[in-house]
Amino acid sequence: MGMRSRHQKAFGLRCYPAGHRSVTLLLWSLAALVVVVNFHLLIIHKEEDESMSTHEIRRSIMRELEAVEEEKLKLSPPRSRRNPRAVRRKGERKPPTIVDEFLDESSAVHDMFFPELNMAVDPINGGNDSMYLYYPGRVWLDTDGKPIQAHGGGVLYDKKTKTYFWYGENKDGKTYKTHSKGADRVDIVGVSCYSSKDLWTWKNEGVVLRGEEKNVTHDLHKSNVLERPKVIYNDRTGKYVMWMHIDDANYTKASVGVAVSDSPTGLFTYLYSKRPHDCESRDMTIFKDDDGKAYLIYSSEDNSELHIGPLTDDYLDVTDDMRRFLIAQHREAPALFKHEGTYYMVTSGCTGWAPNTALAHAATSVMGPWETLGNPCVGGNEVFRSTTFFSQSTFVLPVPGLPGSFIFMADRWNPSDLRDSRYVWLPLTIGGVPDEAADYSFMFPLWSRVSIYWHKRWRLPDGWRDS
Ligand code: DGJ
Repeated sequence: MGMRSRHQKAFGLRCYPAGHRSVTLLLWSLAALVVVVNFHLLIIHKEEDESMSTHEIRRSIMRELEAVEEEKLKLSPPRSRRNPRAVRRKGERKPPTIVDEFLDESSAVHDMFFPELNMAVDPINGGNDSMYLYYPGRVWLDTDGKPIQAHGGGVLYDKKTKTYFWYGENKDGKTYKTHSKGADRVDIVGVSCYSSKDLWTWKNEGVVLRGEEKNVTHDLHKSNVLERPKVIYNDRTGKYVMWMHIDDANYTKASVGVAVSDSPTGLFTYLYSKRPHDCESRDMTIFKDDDGKAYLIYSSEDNSELHIGPLTDDYLDVTDDMRRFLIAQHREAPALFKHEGTYYMVTSGCTGWAPNTALAHAATSVMGPWETLGNPCVGGNEVFRSTTFFSQSTFVLPVPGLPGSFIFMADRWNPSDLRDSRYVWLPLTIGGVPDEAADYSFMFPLWSRVSIYWHKRWRLPDGWRDS
């Protein structure tokens, strides 16, 4: 008994503090658990709040880009340019359309669409109020104060230098025709390159692929045609690869040309030209997909259809694989982009330098089938919308940090003085219901709407790079 009680005591003596400790431990553990759970809930709520506010910020940015701007521009009735005697002899001719007036350098309508140099977008002397403002159609000066020469171009974002490079046709020469029925042209000067960190202030990096002055047999001889250059970077080879439309003055060669460089600012070495897949190729573009595969897209068969095919792994050639699409649709000026796994394309009709109606297309696989969604242009007025705001597509550039937002890049060609052609950059967004949906499944449209919004002036939202 004594033993027991001793033991009990001893036990009790050993056990009591241990029991006390475990209760304390339990209480502390519970308290810690409460703290951890609360902390976790706090983090979740904070993340939710943050993602809500990021979402809200995105929505308000999108609302700003998508604001519909009507164009109140009043166009006076077309003038009759014929003398009454000629009318009596030959009868009344159809009055000129707005597009005719737009193309006619002696018309007031033309002047409205090609504002004078004193209205230029000038990143150096622009002042704070006009910082980062895009004015579609105005002369756009580089950091040397000279008009940017990058027509039919495209933009490459170079991850190595965290810089944007804008490549395009340098058309800084006299406009002339080789014969009365020929197209207005400028001799090949080469491909210009401009660099920028903010997509608004552009520094001239020079002519990175030069036209050829003497050798008449060279593809780049000044008497030929070099149009729509585009550059992509090959991660495997570390080379910058340029593809372009190469032609003779009559557009009968209908080929693509390839050039390569170790640096985005060149010089590029011209490699060769060819007819891809043994087919005619005129207006073209290239597209690099997320998986590093790249594609050539070109107008073919007398511009009646488009072709698409993968490039080789080094991007220096096409493979044998090719699909035809938009057959008999007569589309050109393709600009391809991707959003959330769907491929989109904007194209123009084929009317030389004259503007016409854009169409948006979509596909779930880049090789097609491609479907037509309709005219993506929103705002302005009926004439603006049916003429792609008096311009022609050339490239669609994703806005970093704003998924679903892009910059639609287009050319407002001035065929009477091609060097004075202007740039039309406008916000393009993907989302919402297409108003001319090509295809419905169980009453639901299969595709999101592609919209290009008219703005007389606009800017990318502040902090778009880190939004
Ligand atoms: C329309 C094309 O899109 C331009 O690149 C150019 O080739 C002109 N035609 C020439 O008329």
